[in-house]
Amino acid sequence: MKLPQITPSILSADFGNFRPEVESVAAAGCELLHVDVMDGHFVPVITFGPATVQALRKTVDIPFDIHLMVTDPEAHMEQFARAEGSHEYSFLTVHQEACSHLHRTLEKIHRLGMKAGVAINPGTAPSVLEAIMDQVDLVLIMTVDPGFGGQACINSCLDKISVVREMARKAGRDVIIELDGGIKLTNLDRAAAADVLVMGSAVFQGGDPEIAGRNFREAQKAFEEIYSRG
Ligand code: DX5
Ligand code: ZN
Repeated sequence: MKLPQITPSILSADFGNFRPEVESVAAAGCELLHVDVMDGHFVPVITFGPATVQALRKTVDIPFDIHLMVTDPEAHMEQFARAEGSHEYSFLTVHQEACSHLHRTLEKIHRLGMKAGVAINPGTAPSVLEAIMDQVDLVLIMTVDPGFGGQACINSCLDKISVVREMARKAGRDVIIELDGGIKLTNLDRAAAADVLVMGSAVFQGGDPEIAGRNFREAQKAFEEIYSRG
């Protein structure tokens, strides 16, 4: 992935009315939809499961960025991959903190035909990923403690971007770096050192599809402008 991407998180969309909001961001040029799966155990909140992912797949034909905030990701990955439809550019991202056998988990994601992501919480150092840099396609740096939308970005987490970049360079890998949590137009300048930015509450607001499309377009444009300045 060369161009920077904003990936809107449907966690902040209207759960009773996903379709118009998702269609609106897709029409505005969104090429990656962030889907937050929470199990009420790894994080306090429960969101949705494979059936919702399948319904979303019927709504839009863009890649999904499935962020599994669940205690036992290996037990559910196959169902999510099937529901997603194994779009060539879709990501399945697990939390390092939830995986006892991360190497095997990443192998399994690839076998399921998806790109493999690993997320790290604010309290986790990027160095824990050193041994799997040759396997990972995306590193998701959490910039809030996971579980809720609308939290403030923990700025110290942004320092991890350069650390992960260096680890990827050493491994000779073109790893995508994504940030998730509290990313808004106001802190885009610093966040733009990453490749992909998740935006929930900064895109989806009040269940209004038109506002979501407009917010997405503005954010994507701002990200591209900062990126092109270098
Ligand atoms: C939080 C989720 C995020 C969330 C971000 O645990 O992983 O994807 O939707 O929401 P904002 O952008 O509002 O912080
Ligand atoms: Zn997320």
